[in-house]
Amino acid sequence: METRIRPGVRLREDVFGGICYVPQRDDFFAANQKIFLYLKSLPDTWTKVATTDKEAVTALAALGICETRSPKITEKAYCGPSFLGSFLELPSVSMPLVVNCFCTAHCPLSCIYCHADDLMKQFRDTESDDDIDNVAATANMLPAMVAVITGGDPLTRPRRAKALIERLAAEKALVLDTSGVGDITTLVPLLKENNVHVRVSLDTISNQNRKLRPTNRQYVKNGESSSLGAIRTIDICHAEGIPLTVQTVITSLNENADEWRDLRDWLVARGVRNWVIHVVVKGGAARRIEEASKGKRTTIVPSSYIYTKLWRLVDETIKRRLPIDIRCTDTDTTPNSVLLIGSKGDLYTEGYAHKGKVCLYRIGDARPDLIQALWPHLDRFGHARRYLNWNPWFFEGRSLETICYDVPVPETSELTTQANPVETEAKYPILDVATLEALLAEFGFQASGGAKFQRDEYFDTAERFAKRLDYVVRLRQEGGLLAVALKGPRHWVGRTYSRIELEVPAGSESAVRDSLHRSGFEATWYMEKRRTTYLTSRRSLVAAVDEIPELGFFLELEGPLSDVREMESKLVKVLGPQERRNYAELFRTYKLESGVHSEEIVGASFTS
Ligand SMILES: C[S@@+](CC[C@H](N)C(=O)[O-])C[C@H]1O[C@@H](n2cnc3c(N)ncnc32)[C@H](O)[C@@H]1O
Ligand code: SF4
Repeated sequence: METRIRPGVRLREDVFGGICYVPQRDDFFAANQKIFLYLKSLPDTWTKVATTDKEAVTALAALGICETRSPKITEKAYCGPSFLGSFLELPSVSMPLVVNCFCTAHCPLSCIYCHADDLMKQFRDTESDDDIDNVAATANMLPAMVAVITGGDPLTRPRRAKALIERLAAEKALVLDTSGVGDITTLVPLLKENNVHVRVSLDTISNQNRKLRPTNRQYVKNGESSSLGAIRTIDICHAEGIPLTVQTVITSLNENADEWRDLRDWLVARGVRNWVIHVVVKGGAARRIEEASKGKRTTIVPSSYIYTKLWRLVDETIKRRLPIDIRCTDTDTTPNSVLLIGSKGDLYTEGYAHKGKVCLYRIGDARPDLIQALWPHLDRFGHARRYLNWNPWFFEGRSLETICYDVPVPETSELTTQANPVETEAKYPILDVATLEALLAEFGFQASGGAKFQRDEYFDTAERFAKRLDYVVRLRQEGGLLAVALKGPRHWVGRTYSRIELEVPAGSESAVRDSLHRSGFEATWYMEKRRTTYLTSRRSLVAAVDEIPELGFFLELEGPLSDVREMESKLVKVLGPQERRNYAELFRTYKLESGVHSEEIVGASFTS
């Protein structure tokens, strides 16, 4: 058997392990530490699977996280909660998973329950070509793994949809929400090129859909119904191999198990493999209807049995092994768990203690730092719960740990070993520097020049904007030369991140410091060291002897794991145990253990 990670799958580390996003099923999975480490070891190119890894790889291939050949394991339907490995409790996520981006406020339908209604009509007249750039700018400031291009309806303004796809695809996985009414064909090449997952809305396969999702004659001149548009778009996506989900909103008007079954069976027959059911959220038009119906018997909200009924549908689908994933959301209980960027670029959430949308950030505020600072004020737990498919009323009251998805990761895995052939920072305290230097010479190492002094100083604003926005501003002194470095936010694509890094020689030290000070930057940390680098003629292994203020001398070995291990065994008598912490962490720990208060530890210097 051979395997590779499925192209487009994204991984992001988190305190509990990490998150895995699978674009072809538009699904997130939370993985515990052990399984996340395993996911990170899945190769990008076809690699032979050892017998010990087969079971784990098979389990992951069934979810579409990796793919296999000889034999090919087919992806299976999965309706369970999205937790890999064991979780005792639902984790919260450190950064957003999804941000919804309004592509336009225009829409060909007037769905009776539309929760986006309050971000549509009043914004239509003033929508301009320029404000799509603001939508993209706000979205790019939020470190969400997935951006949903929504509205209104992207098909009413394909040029704006195109602009958003082009601006967002480099950093985020993309989903496009549509009623299907309109012409998707002009977008098809771009959707395919950027692996965009399309979600089409369809509430029933009967005529009832027209009542729930009526067309707006101002936009739809040919009399086409919303169902016809949705079906046409579903078929086009299938024919083009575009990954697809159908979304259904459940209100009191389609709370009917027979209607649901008819729709499910139609979807299965049509080849749709992902179905998301939203229990109506009381927002926008749904809230208006609900408020108008107070005291009357008519209501848009489904009955209190809705969850039992939905579970019966899911349970029956699992038991009949129908090839369709069904996921349900009930965001009405956690409205402020969803991030929404309006068509002008402002950021909103649905109010929890506030009626209607709450504006969290306005594009003209020019305080991009605030956008991330707002994240803790959202319902992060609700956010994780919504996107990790945890429905407490499902699975007959069983605890989460009994229904997590098992991935039988072997104790010793060939994949994990192969994925980490190079250990970049094997670091050891040196017990006897003179003997170590003599041994290095004996094994063919030569010092390349003498010990080089290096001082790194890190800067931030008083409000710590750089840290919050994931920037690094660093001043480096080395061998009498000064350089300023600016590193931009990290962008995670798959398992690695990239960031813009710029390092330029700086002018006089006092001029640079003055300039940083005038721009509002102050030093937040500094680290000095003296480094002597040792090379051999083969150059595959590099040794560095670092002198660290107050801590003494350390050896760093860099090269292929086998070479590092071999050298470690040769030098063992002059080395302490391998140290995995970086120098800043070691220094802080040493100072704290010496009784220094945390706030007094601001850096490591030979002169202090
Ligand atoms: C606001 S629409 C925008 C995209 C596109 N116009 C469409 O209908 O798919 C996005 C999704 O939200 C769903 N939706 C609208 N109002 C809702 C509500 N009150 N509660 C839950 N979902 C809702 C829609 O059915 C659709 O699946
Ligand atoms: S749900 Fe979608 S199609 Fe329906 S009115 Fe709202 S935005 Fe338009």
